[in-house]
Amino acid sequence: MSKATIQSLPSCVGEAKRLAALLGLPLQEIALHRFPDREMRVTVGRAASTTILYASLDQPNEKLIAILFAAEALRRTGAKRLVLLAPYLCYMRQDTAFSQGEAISQRAVGQLLAGIMDRVITVDTHLHRTTDIRMVFPGIEADNLSAMPAIANALRTAGMDPTTIVAGPDAESGPWVSDLSGRLGLAQVVARKIRRGDRSVQIEFPDPASIAGRPILLVDDIVSSGGTLVACAKALKAAGAEAIDAVITHALFPAELAAEFAGAGIRSIRSTCSVPHPTNAIPLDALFANALRSEIDG
Ligand code: R5P
Repeated sequence: MSKATIQSLPSCVGEAKRLAALLGLPLQEIALHRFPDREMRVTVGRAASTTILYASLDQPNEKLIAILFAAEALRRTGAKRLVLLAPYLCYMRQDTAFSQGEAISQRAVGQLLAGIMDRVITVDTHLHRTTDIRMVFPGIEADNLSAMPAIANALRTAGMDPTTIVAGPDAESGPWVSDLSGRLGLAQVVARKIRRGDRSVQIEFPDPASIAGRPILLVDDIVSSGGTLVACAKALKAAGAEAIDAVITHALFPAELAAEFAGAGIRSIRSTCSVPHPTNAIPLDALFANALRSEIDG
């Protein structure tokens, strides 16, 4: 039996298979059985001393239970070190109680995972008031990788108009906008966003005149309801943008929204493979393989 192995939730087994091949590790798919009353039986493969759990945590509620049970089975059957590779890490946006009585989901999920894992690896996770991912996972190792080098490479290979402006919808997108525009040698702009509800946001760009006639590359970490992207596209169109393309790390939106995006003037949307989705265009296998090499070699 290999010293390390990868075990994957069924929803991301295609991505896990590619990673396992790159690292030369065996891959096993975790089996989930749903009972009629909606409880779940989780069956893992044979544990190795180091077991990497590949579980992207979009639509997370059932998946969190699945990895909780998988961790129990793996520890009991011989895993000494459990590494969670969660390309999309759920519940990170609620990092404070905005109103009296609200749960801080980031803290609750962080404590849950810190209690069952030795290391958590994710990518472009939404950290705002919490500046360092290690604060989310007390007492264990944690890495927040950046997808920006892989995104920049993909865009460079596809070819970029040098007059493109890289645009972000809000202050939180600022670091990604700066990183990507710096890598590509392009101008940048960051809008101001006011959120009015789950699907309703207001977007204002600081100097709309500078956008007129320019191609725009919209960058964000997450697209979920699509409200932010649509409001951005409308503001950019109103300012006279020549064309609008979008690139995002985590595509959480239903594929049917594509028509609405096109209607708002968005020419293309590309996402990384962090969450399996029809817009996936940017693989992260090499990024994850590099982060995991020490688990195999060391
Ligand atoms: C929030 O600050 C995030 O960076 C995204 O802008 C947000 O989650 C997108 O959500 P939606 O697609 O629902 O507007």
